[in-house]
Amino acid sequence: MSKSLLVTGGAGYVGSHVVLELVARGYEVVVFDNLQQGHRDAVVREAMLIEGDLADRDGLDRLFDQHRFDAVLHFAANSLVGESMRQPFLYLGDNVVNALNLIRATVEHKVGKFVLSSTANLFGTPERIPIDEEAAIDPGSPYGESKFIIERMLHWADQIHGLRSACLRYFNAAGADPNGRTGEDHAPETHLIPIVLQAALGQRPHVEIFGDDYPTPDGTCIRDYIHVLDLADAHIRALDLLETRSCRYNLGNGRGYSVREVVETARRVTGAEIPVRVGPRRAGDPAVLVAAADRIRTELGWKPKFAELRKIVETAWQWHSNNPTGFVRARSDQVEST
Ligand code: UFG
Repeated sequence: MSKSLLVTGGAGYVGSHVVLELVARGYEVVVFDNLQQGHRDAVVREAMLIEGDLADRDGLDRLFDQHRFDAVLHFAANSLVGESMRQPFLYLGDNVVNALNLIRATVEHKVGKFVLSSTANLFGTPERIPIDEEAAIDPGSPYGESKFIIERMLHWADQIHGLRSACLRYFNAAGADPNGRTGEDHAPETHLIPIVLQAALGQRPHVEIFGDDYPTPDGTCIRDYIHVLDLADAHIRALDLLETRSCRYNLGNGRGYSVREVVETARRVTGAEIPVRVGPRRAGDPAVLVAAADRIRTELGWKPKFAELRKIVETAWQWHSNNPTGFVRARSDQVEST
C-alpha cells in the first residue's frame, strides 16, 4: 500500500517541487494550502489540493479525521527575511502559531513523522564558513527565529510524544523543474535569480546589486544556491530516515557564488545583456553563507544532481522564458474544501 502524506504549502515554490518528486515515487499526496502565496497550477494532478488555512484548528482536525497520513511535510510559512525585519509578528506570530496548530494536530491524530522546511537564517552571521550542523544558532531575523522556535517545538514533541522530525535548513533554493511542471513565481519577487531573469526578459530595466563593499573577492555577497529538486530528493531521504530516528541537516551544495557571478552566469545562459546598478546594502544580509553539507551526503547518500550554478540557472531560465507571467490560469477541478 502506498504511503499517504500531508504537504502544507505544497502549492508554493519549494513545496510544489517536493510534491512532484513524491508523486513520482508513488506516494499519495494531499496538499493543504491557503493559496495566498501558492498557485493551484503548481500542484500536479496526481496530488489532491485542499484549500485551507493552518490558523483554522477545526479545519485541521477535519483534515486529519478525513485522511490517514503517514507523515507531514510542512512548507507553508511566510519566508522573507527582509519582510520579517519590517513585520516581525507576522513571523513570530503567524508562522509559529500555525506550526503549533499543525504539530498539535499531528500528535493528537497519532501521525508519527514530520519534516520541517527550515532555513540557514538560523545561523545569522556565522563565525565560520562553511556552516555545519554544530554551528551556533543565532537567528539573523524574526523569520529565522520563527523557524528556530518551530525546531524546538519539534524537539519537545519528539521527547514527550515520540513525534520523529527532520529539520532541513535550506540555503538558497533556486532553479525549476526541467520538465516545466512548476517553477518560481512570487509576488512581489525578491530573490536574486528570478529577478536577474526578469531583467533578461526585459521585465525590469536592471538588477540592483545590494552592496559591493562586502569583504568578498568582488565585494558582493556570496550564497550557496541549491536546486529545488535536489532539495526535494533530500526530503525523501529524510522521510525514509524517520522510520528510525529524528535528524537535522544543512542543505546546500557547499560552494558559494557572488551576486556578480550569478549575473554573469545568467548573461551566458540567456544571451541577454542584463544591466546592473550598485545600490546600498540590504539590511540583515550576511556577507557569506555557504553550507557544509557533508553530514547529509555521508549519512543519507544525498548527492546533488544540479550542483553547478549554470545548470540551476538554465532550469530557472527555461521556466521563466516559457512562463513570463508565471502561473496565470486557475485550475479548479481538483479542489476540495474543508
Ligand atoms: N540580491 C541583490 N539584488 C536583488 C536581490 C538579491 O543583490 O535584487 C542579493 C542579496 O543581497 C543576497 C543575494 O542576492 O546577497 C541572495 O538574495 P536572495 O534574496 O535571493 O536570498 P537570501 O540570501 O536573502 O535568502 C534566501 C532565502 C531565505 C534563507 C536564506 C538562507 O530567501 O529564506 O536564503 O541562505 F533564509
